[in-house]
Amino acid sequence: MAGPLPALSPRASKVLDLSEKLVFPLSKQGDPAEGKKIFQTVCFACHTVGQGVRVGPDLAGITKRQSREWIHKFVTNSAKFIASGDKDAKAIFEEFKKFPMPPQALSAAKIDSIIAYLESVGGVARAGGGVDKTRPEGDPGLGVELFQGTRRLTNGGPSCISCHGMKHPSIMGGGTMAVDLTMVYDRLGGAGIKGILSSPPFPLMKKAYEGRPITPDEISALQAFLFDAYQQAKKSKGGAGIGWQYGLILLLGGLLGLVVLLLLFGALWRDRKPGLVNQKIYDRQLGAADIAD
Ligand code: HEC
Ligand code: HEC
Repeated sequence: MAGPLPALSPRASKVLDLSEKLVFPLSKQGDPAEGKKIFQTVCFACHTVGQGVRVGPDLAGITKRQSREWIHKFVTNSAKFIASGDKDAKAIFEEFKKFPMPPQALSAAKIDSIIAYLESVGGVARAGGGVDKTRPEGDPGLGVELFQGTRRLTNGGPSCISCHGMKHPSIMGGGTMAVDLTMVYDRLGGAGIKGILSSPPFPLMKKAYEGRPITPDEISALQAFLFDAYQQAKKSKGGAGIGWQYGLILLLGGLLGLVVLLLLFGALWRDRKPGLVNQKIYDRQLGAADIAD
């Protein structure tokens, strides 16, 4: 009874094609060349395609792991998507230490182009290795000033120190509203920091710089300063062994000093024994009383 389906007439298949486009308006669209351009300007600060993890996961092969619709939802507003309870979105968010990916103000067509680009590259995602920890080009001296607010940001945004802590010889104190940034370069690298400063993914920080963007020169200076801070902190951590030995020497020196002092006091005490001070005073007063008599 159930024979093969009759072949569709050209007209019927056209209708089917059209209805498919209406039902799945996102399928098979996008221009990979345009997608590559957008990817490099918007996403590359946080993602590589095949070169490893940066701030976010390596996106190589994502089009095989997730549906087009899933990628659209994630890129448009990952926080909302995660909150909706999607298991994979939640898992990747947990894996990346709950670092929220900023929502991207991109049209559906542009996201399609990015997907087309990712599809054209293909490949396999790599685990670590995408964080670039080489010295950035900016001026770290300018970075210190911008960080602690001794020089104002061109567009009037608040200084970083009003929210962030930092351990650095030329920085005093710092805010406690947000994480300490001493070692942040180690985790995010120059590109990750650039991504965050060009488009802060955290609500509080985003609000602080809304309409008051940090300029590219300022970003390079801050990158260079954060690199410096990380290098210095790494060095002083590496020198912790010396610090420990130095501490022991101080402690032993202190103990030796204490022994010497005890011996000295002991000797003084022995000298004093025959004639107690109080006794002398007492005697003297008795003598004085004798005279008065
Ligand atoms: C400021 C950094 C940042 C930027 C910019 C950024 N992302 Fe992300 N992205 C992340 C992080 C971090 C994650 C990991 C998930 C999370 O923490 O929410 C992520 C996850 C993803 C995922 C899920 C990956 C997976 O394996 O499931 C996709 C897809 C994605 N990003 C695409 C993009 C695209 C496309 C762009 C550019 C339009 C972009 N991202 C821009 C930080 C960023
Ligand atoms: C209004 C407060 C505020 C200001 C000002 C601010 N930030 Fe942030 N920043 C935050 C918050 C909140 C976070 C999210 C992490 C957290 O909760 O501590 C964050 C996160 C970051 C991170 C990522 C840290 C990590 O470990 O993932 C970097 C890097 C960063 N900020 C750099 C800067 C720099 C550089 C400046 C100055 C140009 C700056 N911030 C100014 C509030 C602020």
